[in-house]
Amino acid sequence: MSREVSELMRKDIKDIEAYLPIEPTDILSHRVDIPAERVVKLDGNENPYGCSQKVRQALAKYGYYHLYPDPEQRELRKALASYVGLDSEHIVVGSGSDELIDLILRLFLEPADVVINCPPTFGMYSFSAGVCGGVVVNVPRKEDFSIDILAVKRALTARAKVIFIASPNNPSGNVTPESEICELLESDIVVVVDEAYFEFSGVTVAGLVMQYDNLVVLRTFSKWAGLAGLRVGYGIFPVDIARNLMKIKQPYNVNCAAQVAALESLKDMKYFRSVIQAIIEEKERLARALSRFAWLKVYPSQANFVLCRVLKGEAKKIHKELQRRGIFVRYFDVPELSDCLRISAGKPEHTDALIAALEDIC
Ligand SMILES: Cc1ncc(COP(=O)(O)O)c(C=O)c1O
Repeated sequence: MSREVSELMRKDIKDIEAYLPIEPTDILSHRVDIPAERVVKLDGNENPYGCSQKVRQALAKYGYYHLYPDPEQRELRKALASYVGLDSEHIVVGSGSDELIDLILRLFLEPADVVINCPPTFGMYSFSAGVCGGVVVNVPRKEDFSIDILAVKRALTARAKVIFIASPNNPSGNVTPESEICELLESDIVVVVDEAYFEFSGVTVAGLVMQYDNLVVLRTFSKWAGLAGLRVGYGIFPVDIARNLMKIKQPYNVNCAAQVAALESLKDMKYFRSVIQAIIEEKERLARALSRFAWLKVYPSQANFVLCRVLKGEAKKIHKELQRRGIFVRYFDVPELSDCLRISAGKPEHTDALIAALEDIC
């Protein structure tokens, strides 16, 4: 062969940095040589209580794992439509909202089109934009992590197609006010509001999807419903966008187990409301406990995690010391967050273990 296989690959792939994912408990347990049941996992904003008993039963009872799932996700889209208060034709379900981020970019981006990203934020936006051949224009958030609307407007060139706004934002936990989303919607780009943490914030712009043909709202079952491992997220779209996404998605993108579990979760909302409330209360207790350390600045959060800045000492070192004790939190090795830790709300005993470890470390 006269050409190397690597020469056949897209040249721009070389410049894409791999996404830095979190690891599952068994891998973490092995890494620090601490039994899995003693690992305190506060790095993924997952639901520490897992899915509900009814969801487990429905998964065990389902008898059609040998058949392909419904490519049109009819039952689940219908249930989601009623949960959201719109018709099913506005809903598309994905293998996690991660898949929907990728699909949206595939739908809108031509090579070298621009995606506006507002860091610090969820890393999949810039990662998927790169994979889809887009150019990422970063418009950093202000010091309080709010969106710099004027700077975003300045970045709206003719090549700009899509902007991503996580609300509440990961990792800062703050919500973007509806008035600011509306300002962005007046531009001629697609505004993707990622409400992965909606069930904790209670704040949504989903009601605006009927008014704006350039608004997309993303949600997930990974955080409130304890289904991160099954990969199921959904989007609320103007009908034209939804139809085209249904056309380009892989036919069986959401597996049977994910569809069964998501459907049953929506039927078990009474249980989940109490779990969500417990997680919110634990996040507040966690934030209060962390605020007592004079060397930590804790940012207000409307999600199921808190971001804190290490004012004295090194976040990297604390992260490492916590790991050694089997406690995993998220540390970001990027300039704007190099002295920050993001800590998910876990069970009360997880908070206690974390606080005791921090007292011991510092
Ligand atoms: C803002 C945001 N969007 C999307 C996701 C991913 O959700 P999913 O598990 O549905 O792919 C996350 C996960 O951390 C997130 O923080």
